[in-house]
Amino acid sequence: MLNVRVERKRQVADEICSFHLVSATGEPLPSFTAGSHVDVHLPGGLVRQYSLCGDPGDAGQYILGVLKDPASRGGSIAMHSIEEGSEIQISAPRNHFPIEDGAGHSILLAGGIGVTPLMAMARALSSERRSFELHYCTRNLARTAFKEELLQGAMSDRVHLHLDEGRGERFDAEAVLRGRFRPDAHIYICGPAGFIEAMISAAKEAGFAESQVHREYFAAPKVAPSELGDGVFQVQIKSTGAIHQILPEETVVQVLGRHGIEIETSCEQGVCGTCVTRVLEGVPDHRDVYLTDQEHVENKLFTPCCSRACSPMLVLDL
Ligand code: FES
Repeated sequence: MLNVRVERKRQVADEICSFHLVSATGEPLPSFTAGSHVDVHLPGGLVRQYSLCGDPGDAGQYILGVLKDPASRGGSIAMHSIEEGSEIQISAPRNHFPIEDGAGHSILLAGGIGVTPLMAMARALSSERRSFELHYCTRNLARTAFKEELLQGAMSDRVHLHLDEGRGERFDAEAVLRGRFRPDAHIYICGPAGFIEAMISAAKEAGFAESQVHREYFAAPKVAPSELGDGVFQVQIKSTGAIHQILPEETVVQVLGRHGIEIETSCEQGVCGTCVTRVLEGVPDHRDVYLTDQEHVENKLFTPCCSRACSPMLVLDL
């Protein structure tokens, strides 16, 4: 856990604030790589994940960009209530959405506030003089965060703004991606679930392999769970042989936690990948959006914070 102080809070677009966090103890902040996020411990006991959107080369501060979303579960409203000078606790940065080292070209696709991890990527790629382009889709200029830096700064020639309303080109993802296909290109997508699904399908149509397409959700999309996993099932702990029953209203993480088997979690909704656990036997009912389609088919990993089982038992590598 890190104790940080909000050194600066700034309105960067309608309903979007940036928070500049510095160490509250004088200890240097851990370094981070583009695509990282931190868990922020908010007033009222809420814990929420926010991407770091600042320059990974700037060791002195972390920058978050947060949209006040009335439809959220309360985290963004609590975050916006934090004032300059406040001290808060955050986790060390973790990265489940890294830039591929060998990418010859990177295509960053942002929907709304999904621009935050991609800002850090754009800054890193720009300072490493690597080839990239950023497509940022927002409703209008008033809702466009970090627009001065993106449109007038050093990377402005690589930034394409696509507005739903008013001036600006609409984004035809399929057409753009078709023209960009190359075997060493990688695509990074962040935004609302519908945006991500549309971009993944456009990338597939344009010929990109699943291994070339990377995405990060903010929250789990509403997926219809399979009825198979709704019932009772068992999990066996490989190291001890102990068997635990999972009732319909409980998660694997909750049941194992009650028996002293702690699995680290963060989002608890299948988004962040913190709880990913190896499955040795049995068939999971995957309810996460973190693992890839290929990983879901392979059934070697699952997310015990939300996923369940299609088979009567899962043997877990714990
Ligand atoms: Fe985030 Fe399970 S805790 S995916």
